[in-house]
Amino acid sequence: MCGIVGYVGKQKKAQEVLLEGLTNLEYRGYDSAGIAYVTNGKLVITKTEGKINNLKKIVIPCEANLGIGHTRWATNGKPNTINSHPHKQGKITIVHNGIIDNYAEIKEQLQKDGVTFKSETDTEVIAALLNQIYTKTQDINKSIVEFQKKVKGAYALGIIVDDDYNTLYAIRNESPLIVALGNDENYIASDVPAIIKYTNKYIELNNGDFAKITDSQIICYNALGKEIKKDIQEFPIESYDIDKHGYEHIMLKEIHEQPTVIKNTIGDYIDNNIDNLIAKMPDFSKYNKIIIVACGSAMHAGLVGKNMIEEFADIPVDVEIASEFRYKKVFIDNKTLVIGVSQSGETADTLKAIVKAKEKGADTLGIISKKGSSIARCVDFVLYTNSGIEVAVATTKAYSAQIALLSLIALNIANHKHNIDNKELEKILKSIKELPIQIERLLSNEACENYKNIAETLYTHNDIFFIGRGVDYALCMEGSLKLKEISYIHSEAYPAGELKHGTISLIEPGTPVVGVITDFEIADKTLSNIEETKSRGSENYLIITEELDNQYSKINKNYNTYNKVVIPNTHKLLQPLLAVVPLQMIAYETARFKGEEIDKPRNLAKSVTVE
Ligand code: F6R
Repeated sequence: MCGIVGYVGKQKKAQEVLLEGLTNLEYRGYDSAGIAYVTNGKLVITKTEGKINNLKKIVIPCEANLGIGHTRWATNGKPNTINSHPHKQGKITIVHNGIIDNYAEIKEQLQKDGVTFKSETDTEVIAALLNQIYTKTQDINKSIVEFQKKVKGAYALGIIVDDDYNTLYAIRNESPLIVALGNDENYIASDVPAIIKYTNKYIELNNGDFAKITDSQIICYNALGKEIKKDIQEFPIESYDIDKHGYEHIMLKEIHEQPTVIKNTIGDYIDNNIDNLIAKMPDFSKYNKIIIVACGSAMHAGLVGKNMIEEFADIPVDVEIASEFRYKKVFIDNKTLVIGVSQSGETADTLKAIVKAKEKGADTLGIISKKGSSIARCVDFVLYTNSGIEVAVATTKAYSAQIALLSLIALNIANHKHNIDNKELEKILKSIKELPIQIERLLSNEACENYKNIAETLYTHNDIFFIGRGVDYALCMEGSLKLKEISYIHSEAYPAGELKHGTISLIEPGTPVVGVITDFEIADKTLSNIEETKSRGSENYLIITEELDNQYSKINKNYNTYNKVVIPNTHKLLQPLLAVVPLQMIAYETARFKGEEIDKPRNLAKSVTVE
């Protein structure tokens, strides 16, 4: 959510580094963008509403050796040019990710002191605050220490001070920020894609830390202003590949990466041998209860995980929307495991929910994609997905990788509790091996033609229903969210059996209803519910397993009139990993027919670091 990049050095043109960095961070926010750079001893700020391309059109190329840039996802104030970053007050120019909780009080005080503001943002307020302190102290380090005592909230800041145009300052509290190292040049970035083209060496700032950065030196300080030593770390370059590789959209590329992602993620833990899985995970069978906290698609992955863990591991699982969990009464003791599921590892709601769970005495586990992220550092134990960087705003491969890890947790506990015998285990291991090929089949040209045909009808509708039972309902929730996010078509996911208790009144002739049927034990019931909608004129689509398809084709004449996506059979534990692929592809193709901007849907941003 919002992106920051900064550059100081004579090796490159600052403007180019900033614009390129912002382009690579645009998935984190794209309401407006701006850069500030120093040229011929003068600071120039160029900013505008809309995407980075708008900014590129108005930046006047020139030589510059230092600058900061920002791409915004609006929090305080509309996404317009005035509210876009950088903001300058007096001698201080700032770009900011995060939210300042007490900005209104600070603003009131500053206004009493005679400060005036152009924008509605909290960022301009803190620029004015730092400027006021600096005017008194004339010492930027002391000013930052003082400033941090007064400001409450989450912030990652890139700062230029008018008195020293050779130095960048970076401050971090709760929003991610790194300082990256080049040769006679240095960078700041809120996320790796901004700078990975130039360097993979970086220093991580912890909460409260700040850094003074020139082309030849980086000095880090803690919140008290005491100089601190920091280790230089390295990113694996290959996991930050953000090229489209010939695909029309990054989302499509990421959907197609799923066979590899599943292979890698499961391979990291199990490698064809249950003993590896046992060795690589703690024994989760000691817990009486599991609570999964997460948001959006990660929460939907949690719902799939709940079904898997309850069924195979016999432990009750609650799935809580992280933003709700934080403010409600919770029932936790030291026999409760709280699992935070998060691709970015930076989602503020999930992070705060984990902090609360720890305070209440629970053990915490993270299922995270991003190494070293805030949630990964906060939990007692982390299981990383091996899904690489995910750039499309609507998650696909990270969601699948989260489900893959949750299935392994179910398997781990089931094994510890002797809930599965060797024969069953053999079947699961064999099915795991087949998964990548089966996902590839679901992404074959022929399969994709089918998704296109379905989407060609769906995209003309305003309301679409997804119905299923049990784990299939959890999958419907994800299918519905994917469709809403990128095609802007209203859709609802509903438990198939619940529809008749009210919502079926919305079904009228032509209403599309997508039914997901993978669970053998309740398939008949779901199919009956789908037939109930059909009797009311709905246009039906089924996502159904091969085995069930064969069975119904033989015995139910009505069945053969449905539009279908038939998915390969696998072990029940793993079936969601296949069923989700058509749902993702149908959402993608529907949005494509509508001509929407799939990789950067309106109002959204990757990694939601505000509450
Ligand atoms: C939907 C989507 C979001 C995220 C949610 C949590 O496509 O991407 O719903 O799943 O914002 O994000 P993470 O997983 O980063 O915590």
